[in-house]
Amino acid sequence: EKGGYPHFMLKEIFEQPDCIHDCMRGRINVEGTNVVLSAVIDYKEKLLKANRFIIVACGTSWHAALIGKHLIESFCRIPVEVEYASEFRYRDPVISEDDVVIAISQSGETADTLAAVELAKSKGAFIYGICNAIGSSIPRATHTGSYIHVGPEIGVASTKAFTGQVTVLTMLALTLAKEKNSISQEEFLNVVHELNQIPEKMKKILENNDKIAQLSKIFTYAHNFIYLGRGYSYPVALEGALKLKEISYIHAEGYPAAEMKHGPIALIDAEMPVVVVATQNGMYEKLISNIQEIKARKGKVIAIVTEGDEVVKNIADYCIELPETIECLDPLVATVPLQLLAYHIAVCKGMDVDQPRNLAKSVTVE
Ligand code: F6R
Repeated sequence: EKGGYPHFMLKEIFEQPDCIHDCMRGRINVEGTNVVLSAVIDYKEKLLKANRFIIVACGTSWHAALIGKHLIESFCRIPVEVEYASEFRYRDPVISEDDVVIAISQSGETADTLAAVELAKSKGAFIYGICNAIGSSIPRATHTGSYIHVGPEIGVASTKAFTGQVTVLTMLALTLAKEKNSISQEEFLNVVHELNQIPEKMKKILENNDKIAQLSKIFTYAHNFIYLGRGYSYPVALEGALKLKEISYIHAEGYPAAEMKHGPIALIDAEMPVVVVATQNGMYEKLISNIQEIKARKGKVIAIVTEGDEVVKNIADYCIELPETIECLDPLVATVPLQLLAYHIAVCKGMDVDQPRNLAKSVTVE
């Protein structure tokens, strides 16, 4: 049932090009010129008159929510707050009938996320679910939503569900932005076109699997890791760090790169590997100075760079190349090598990657 792969996690990482294709099927037209998420169209009045969106989720789904905030704010110009479901539900949060709450959950059974949905619903908010497990509790408790359609995720560490969630959030932001007229036709077409290319680009990244497996051997000794990124790649850094700690039991922290100087830089020495997502979009120049600061303190830099990059290649210790895409879609490509890095480090350490200690696939208790 693992389709020839040694673990479900590796199978699910490799399934991502097909999963993203399945997720977009029937939502992006064959010409690649239009996106329609039917739930957004059906409830467009409700969504467009919202004062703000609040996204509630836990763990990896919360990381997808951070990317969703960035997408919805920049394309739709609607304010978005992102909350840990566990904190939101106990805070007596300010919620009104003009709020839209988006709940993201792979399993659709996470107790805190379900409770956050019930609370928001009792205050009159409109609830939109983004889930994977069809017919699970969270979709049943929502007013509407979109399934990510990536198929069952068995490995405890979430991989294809994350990229599926980000794909749905991208389609949601695009569909709504078009209804709202807050995106130019040119930008809309460009993002849809690029989104369509993502499965092929993921395949190219997966060709680097052996190289990443080799690289991983060097880092099995590490006790700590830092992951850095900015903008759309900051949640990617958080997600890379979470994957590593879950399955390899190496302590890892993700930070927005500019926060490094406000504390974490004190940790950097020759024993500290630092993964930097430094694609040529967004804050590239600033990330280069971050890498120089790390090198000046003898940290080991593993940089995730755009294909053909020469500048970072000269200063980082190791580079993993990504096919070029647009900034808002960087997470869909940049997350894949970080999943592979965590996977191979854990395998090298002899860990049970599909069933890491102390973790459950659905967290149905608080
Ligand atoms: C991380 C992971 C967890 C889940 C979290 C939420 O790899 O799997 O952090 O993302 O427990 O689960 P769902 O999305 O099912 O609500």
